Amino acid sequence: TMPDLCLGIESSCDDTAAAVVASDRRILSSVIYDQALLHAAYGGVVPEIAARAHAERVDLCVAEALRQAGVGLAGLDLIAVTAGPGLIGGVLAGVMCAKGLSAATGVPLLGVNHLAGHALTPRLTDGIDYPYLLLLVSGGHCQFLAVRGPQDFRRLGGTIDDAPGEAFDKTARLLGLGYPGGPEVERAAAGGDPARFAFPRPLLDRPGCDLSFSGLKTAVRRAVDKLVAAQGGVTRQDRADLCAGFQAATADVLAEKTRRALAAFGTAAPVLAVAGGVAANRTIAGALRAVAAAAGARFVTPPLALCTDNAAMIAWAGIEQAAAGETSDMGLAARPRWPL
Ligand code: KG4
Ligand code: ZN
Repeated sequence: TMPDLCLGIESSCDDTAAAVVASDRRILSSVIYDQALLHAAYGGVVPEIAARAHAERVDLCVAEALRQAGVGLAGLDLIAVTAGPGLIGGVLAGVMCAKGLSAATGVPLLGVNHLAGHALTPRLTDGIDYPYLLLLVSGGHCQFLAVRGPQDFRRLGGTIDDAPGEAFDKTARLLGLGYPGGPEVERAAAGGDPARFAFPRPLLDRPGCDLSFSGLKTAVRRAVDKLVAAQGGVTRQDRADLCAGFQAATADVLAEKTRRALAAFGTAAPVLAVAGGVAANRTIAGALRAVAAAAGARFVTPPLALCTDNAAMIAWAGIEQAAAGETSDMGLAARPRWPL
């Protein structure tokens, strides 16, 4: 049977989050402690710092989520927690918190795959039916999934090296822009000429839905090195052109591979859902929307706050998977790697 009220806990990367979600898709609370400031000086997430911050805050986060939802622990029907994949110290902090709460209250526990959380979010936000095609594009992930049920995901392709968000972050660092790099690169690109630098479109010449971004990142570095050698530095306009060129190449590659994934997915009334932090990028989102329109597919993007890491998606995935018969016990393990 479907649990009515679920507490979700998420701590697999650099956001500590807790949320209460009801089985009728109402989000009663969604609390996120963002660690971006702790990692900003390093230009990326530092696992040890992340793990400590999760351990220090996860219980406060849960208390705040329950308070905002107006629900006591005894009122819960399920505690769902991200059990992987992710940075193991953070995942452990969340799993230990969830086990403690479950042991103390008798509320059932369920370990959820973080990627399943992202993949099922369009059902929470838009109530769409199975099956649908999901493109997950974030700082840690890039893959096409045919989503057929709460535990039924078929991978149609994905990155063979970096995730696009990672490439945005590294490009930002290279150009002396802030962290996280995605929004910074997008802002800088607004005044740039996307055609000035001829950046590669990796893997476009090869069939299938796999993607690659490390070569693109390297091409940006080479262009920067060349500018530095020729003129001693990078001007504001150079930076804008580099960002615009990088962003255009990323959008082109994602658009073409999405076109192919939609063709491979081949359903009568296709739905393309896009989730992950990179979906916030207006150039990329616009390109994907156009691909969906050309293929006659409905285009769904959850609101940004639910596209990026959050605990409401974990609570929702918990509700759906528990209803499908999934259970966990105190033997639940935190897994750094956990393919869908
Ligand atoms: O989904 P998310 O919050 O976390 C995970 O990686 O799971 O995604 C964060 C990533 C970061 O790499 C960030 O730079 C990227 O999403 N991002 C963007 C934009 N906003 C965030 N990338 C491109 N353009 C943006 N506007
Ligand atoms: Zn994520």
